[in-house]
Order: sequence, then structure tokens, then C-alpha cells
Amino acid sequence: MKTFNVALLGLGTVGTGVYRIIAEHEADLENKIGSRIAIRKILVRDIAKHRTRVPESLLTTDFAEIVSDPSIDVIVEVMGGTHPAYDYIRQALQANKHVVTANKELLAKHGKELLTLADEQGLQFRFEASVAGGVPIVKALKESLGANRISQVMGIINGTTNYILTRMSNEGVDIETALREAQAQGYAEADPTNDIDGFDAAYKLLILGSIAFGSRLDIEKIYTEGIRKITPIDLEYGRQLGYTLKLLAIAKETPEGIEARVHPTFIPSKHPLAAVSDVFNAIYVEGDAVGELMFYGRGAGQMPTASAVCSDIIDVALNCGTRKVCSCIYEKKQLPMEQTVSRYYVRISVKDNPGVLAKISHEFGENKVSLHSVIQLGRGEPVPLVFVTHEVTEANLNQAINGIKSLDCVYSVDNIIRVEGEA
Ligand code: NAP
Ligand code: HSE
Repeated sequence: MKTFNVALLGLGTVGTGVYRIIAEHEADLENKIGSRIAIRKILVRDIAKHRTRVPESLLTTDFAEIVSDPSIDVIVEVMGGTHPAYDYIRQALQANKHVVTANKELLAKHGKELLTLADEQGLQFRFEASVAGGVPIVKALKESLGANRISQVMGIINGTTNYILTRMSNEGVDIETALREAQAQGYAEADPTNDIDGFDAAYKLLILGSIAFGSRLDIEKIYTEGIRKITPIDLEYGRQLGYTLKLLAIAKETPEGIEARVHPTFIPSKHPLAAVSDVFNAIYVEGDAVGELMFYGRGAGQMPTASAVCSDIIDVALNCGTRKVCSCIYEKKQLPMEQTVSRYYVRISVKDNPGVLAKISHEFGENKVSLHSVIQLGRGEPVPLVFVTHEVTEANLNQAINGIKSLDCVYSVDNIIRVEGEA
């Protein structure tokens, strides 16, 4: 079996997540891909820094050691910033190594040269994690929606500002406190000005727009306004008027040309994007064939971003090695319906007498069905009683229902509907 050798440039929030996934999922990845993925070298700035669970022998501060190693197949850049990242990636491509990066600033500023060089060298250059953290929007736009003419890409693509606006809006927390929380969670850029002032979202919009419209956007022409001037009082007035504030990134192709802009925007509180809170991102795409689509997930943070980086590593490995067409490699047990767990709505027609509720509740309890709520709709003979249960196996629910059906006070069990999530 071939071993696919990886070097990481950077072992911070994202790099550590990538290391963890590859170490913890080693056997699974090997089975899925048909080749082994091994991290051979990791470039850091400060080798003396304490790194949990990463063997010190993998660390180096010398990029030359990595780029000159002929066994390294792919270089994964998760350092951030444009320099020295740009020079390192150039050297990696010149040394015939595939590249994966999470660096949107680098792509926005130097994407053209680097992607052209990769094409000239016949190498892969992937950047799924550069936009919307764990949400697979780059591959979706490039490949899954490749047959469409895209007319619009719009959404919330900065996790830090969305987290801050949510905290300010829901808890009245001030912007500085909310930013410190976002930094502590590993969401913010090394220089959080990039998040707060909208530059991070603009870099990402450039990447999405360029792919969507097949035409490289110019960062200087993307109108960019961040959330610095937003105060809790604006959010409160907006709320009273029925609006929620979001930092939106919008790119549209119009007959006159492409418009691309990032700015705080009030949207109706019942709009689907208004419900996207905390670190979550959502991207709305409109294509001529597919129609409207929404992508949603965690837009920043260690493991979601590492998931996207690893998906690129897997793609590079699959395109280089023994591609497995079938990804069903295990024989895992598939649960019978009786063993599945759900919450249930149960509507029962009963006699309108004292003690009836107690008898039915007793049957539920005897069969380990815990109740979330109960309502009686009016009075009369028969009268409907509606129960909503907590999570229970289908088998236990069925036993309870059989017991309830045999009670003298019950006319019929009229409907059982499964419930997902809390109302
Ligand atoms: P980070 O926590 O600041 O980590 C940066 C890492 O790079 C550190 O290990 C640092 O070494 C190393 N490094 C920086 N400059 C270096 C240099 N000149 N030479 C050698 N090593 C250097 O950053 P991060 O949050 O992981 O972000 C990394 C990249 O992913 C950025 O491009 C960011 O925009 C992108 N990204 C991040 C997220 C997120 O949620 N955090 C999401 C999507 C994309 P030391 O450890 O020795 O300091
Ligand atoms: N700082 C970025 C954000 C990380 O908050 O969205 C993900 O690119």
C-alpha cells in the first residue's frame, strides 16, 4: 500500500486539528482511500512551545528541510498571512509538491500566480478550508454545480463577526468582550481586524465569486464595511422593527457586470439567514439549472476547519493514487426500526373522566416512556389527549401504546407522529 506523505506548515488552531484527525482516523482513512496518509514534518515558528500529543521529532523551523525532501507529496499551509506563506507555496510547487491551503488572504492577493503555477506544473492546489470553515462550498461550486451558470452567491461567511453580533444581540455583550470570546474559541484571525473590518469576508467573497462567475474578482473593487460601528442599541432598534443584523457578503452577476460587496445588513427576522447564529455560516447560491441552494455549517473553529483541510488532502491522495470507486468498506449493523430512538407525538381519544390521565401516564411510565408535555383539547365524549414524549426506543413506545389501547378508558389511539428537535 502506498503511503501518502504530508508536511504541515503551521501547528496552531487548524494545524493541530489536522494532526488530530489524521492520527485518530488513520485506519479509517487508509481503508477509504486505499493509501496511508502520514504526517512527516511540521513547520513551526517556535519549536520550544509546548505541543500536546505531537512528537517533537516531527517539528522543524527550517522550510528547506521540508521542500527538499523528495518523499513529501503534499504541503499543507495552515500558517496564515501572506509572507512567508506565498514564498513557501511557490517553492513547494516548483519542487513538484501538491498544495493544500486554508489561507484566504493569500488566495485573494496572490491566487492568480499560484494557481497558474500549479496548472503549469500539473499539480493539485486545493483550498476548501479557505471559505466557510467546515462547509464544503468550494468543491460544491467548482464540481457539484459546475454545470450551472451561477447568478448569485450571498451569505454569512465570517464566523467571528456572526458570533459577535449574536452575543451582542442576544446578551447585550459589548463588541470587545464578544471578540475576546471568539478569540478564545479559536475563531478569529491572528489579526482580528481582518474579521471585524470585513476583510476576511471580502477575501472569501473574492474566492467564491471568482469560482462562481469564472472570472477573477479584484479585491480593491469589493466594497468592504465591517461591524466596528455597530452598537447594541442599533441591534435593539432593528429588533423592534422586525430586523436582524448580519454581516452579509453578496456577489451577483448582472448584465452591467459583477457586483461584490460586504457590509452589515438588516434582514427581516423571519428570513432564513436571520436564524444563522453564533459561529455558523450560511451561503445561498442561485444557479440556472439547479435553482436556489443553501449551504450551512460551522464557519470557523479547529475541528470544522481541519475537516475541510483533510477533505482536500483526501482528494489529492485519491487523484494521485489508487482511487477507490466504492467507499462502502465496512459491514456495519443496520438497526431495526424498533431499536431506533425518537420523540413522539401521540393523540388518543379517551373517556372524559377523572383518573384517565393518570392511567395513561402509568402505562407510559411502566414502559420507560418519559413525557415532555400533555394537552387536552376541549371537553366531550370522547375527548382527545395529546402527549409528546422524550427520546424513547420505538420498541418501548410500541409496548406503551399496546398497554394504553387495552385500557377501558381509551377509545382509540388516533395518531402517532415522530418529533425531531425541541419546539
Ligand atoms: P494560528 O493558530 O495562529 O497558527 C499559526 C501556526 O503557524 C502556528 O503554529 C505558528 O507557529 C505557525 N507559523 C506562523 N508563522 C510562521 C512562520 N513564519 N514560520 C513558521 N511557522 C509559522 O492560526 P490558525 O487559526 O490555525 O489559522 C491558520 C490559517 O487557517 C490561516 O490562514 C487562517 O485564516 C485559516 N483559517 C482559520 C480558521 C479558524 O477557525 N482558526 C478557519 C478557516 C481558515 P507557532 O506555533 O510556533 O507560533
Ligand atoms: N476568522 C475566520 C472567521 C476563520 O471567523 O470566519 C474562518 O475563515
